[in-house]
Amino acid sequence: MDLGHNEVGATSAGLFTRAKRVFGDGTTRATIERDPIPRYMERGEGAYLIDVDGRRFLDLNGNFTTLIHGHGFEPVAEAVSRQIRSGSCFANPTAHELDLAELITTRVPGIDWIRFVNTGTEAVLFAVKAARAYTGRPAIAKIEGAYHGAYDWVEVSQASGPSTWGDPAEPASVPYYRGMPETVLNDVVTLRFNDVEGSVRLLEKHAHRLAAIIIDPTPSRAGLIVPEPEFVETINAMARKLGIVLIADEVLNFRQSYEGASARHGFRPDLFTLGKVIGGGLPIGAIGGSQEIMSVFGTGEKRAPLPAGGTFSANPLSMVAGLAAMSALDHAAFEHLERLGDRLRDRLSDEIAKKGAPFTVTGVASLFRIHAKRKAPRDFREALPSPAEAVIGEALTRAYAAAGVVFPNGAAACLSTPMTNADVDLVVDVFSEFLGTHSHLFESVSHEHS
Ligand SMILES: Cc1ncc(COP(=O)(O)O)c(C=O)c1O
Repeated sequence: MDLGHNEVGATSAGLFTRAKRVFGDGTTRATIERDPIPRYMERGEGAYLIDVDGRRFLDLNGNFTTLIHGHGFEPVAEAVSRQIRSGSCFANPTAHELDLAELITTRVPGIDWIRFVNTGTEAVLFAVKAARAYTGRPAIAKIEGAYHGAYDWVEVSQASGPSTWGDPAEPASVPYYRGMPETVLNDVVTLRFNDVEGSVRLLEKHAHRLAAIIIDPTPSRAGLIVPEPEFVETINAMARKLGIVLIADEVLNFRQSYEGASARHGFRPDLFTLGKVIGGGLPIGAIGGSQEIMSVFGTGEKRAPLPAGGTFSANPLSMVAGLAAMSALDHAAFEHLERLGDRLRDRLSDEIAKKGAPFTVTGVASLFRIHAKRKAPRDFREALPSPAEAVIGEALTRAYAAAGVVFPNGAAACLSTPMTNADVDLVVDVFSEFLGTHSHLFESVSHEHS
């Protein structure tokens, strides 16, 4: 049976019927794409996914950028199957956590000490608490539209919009969920990415209360926009001048280079949060940074200012999986990803220019986003799709699905090491065809801007 990639598969439909009986909205992750229902996966093979109805997809989601080596990566599979036979977790440390810690501290300038947790959310939560414990101040500054996981303070203004975001010179702190405490909103200062003048003004105004500035060097949901050098230098300088802890949230963007994203763009953080790729596909998070600030977690003598435990933290399965994945991420692997990413972004941009289509491509290294906008966005406000642009985004994701490509809508798409030029060229060809077949949708975008 040859089922179209966009048709609802009978097996997925059956599973979703069962799922609605136990999950309310049908899944346990708000971020799962559904069109109109989620596609259930049977297995992954390298760069590809095979769904329960037997259809094969090139995977540009990679579990939200986690799977930098694709699915079923042999060194990870081997390390995990060996480890699980000798125990999955102990109330004791293992040598495996040292191996992964040494690899990361050796690679990343600015990470002297590190601690492992289970998710990026948890890493961010502990980094913010560490900044508070170090400075004795309660508040944080964050970038409008940036996603940092599910800790209340970093959720502020994550999903604001034109009706709520307020004055561009002083963005509102917008609740993410109904009932978010007023005290949380009062303790978050919202900055705009690449806004030098506004960031200086707002950071100076609130400095006496600010424990941390948390910044994702290339915030994916806020547009996957590369930071401008003057903005990077401003954030570095203001953090130093005002004694505010600079946290680089590299949970997603650590995959940008051998030394991570801050090193690539020139941020000089005091603390880093990591996750995703460093776990090789198993749950993980990490907080790292200077010895001085990481000392709040304890130095062994007395009760730590900020005690941090966790039943599954540094569990040996995540540690061996992470070590296998990270060891394979050598300079050659990064060069391969960089070449593929450059080829993809260049070829997509060429198609846009050739057809004069209202699109732009953002991203860097193995990451990219396609925006239905003529002008490259500089911040979340410019990146947020208008209603007509959102329709185009959905249509593009559907067109990719129809061609057998999983392409995330509104989040970073990513490449993985098993991919080749042929995979990149498929992504470009589908886009090129989409520009030809969907030009009627682009009219409305031109009108919206006129
Ligand atoms: C920048 C950033 N920070 C934090 C998180 C949260 O990580 P997790 O989903 O592992 O909790 C994510 C997840 O996508 C992220 O992209």
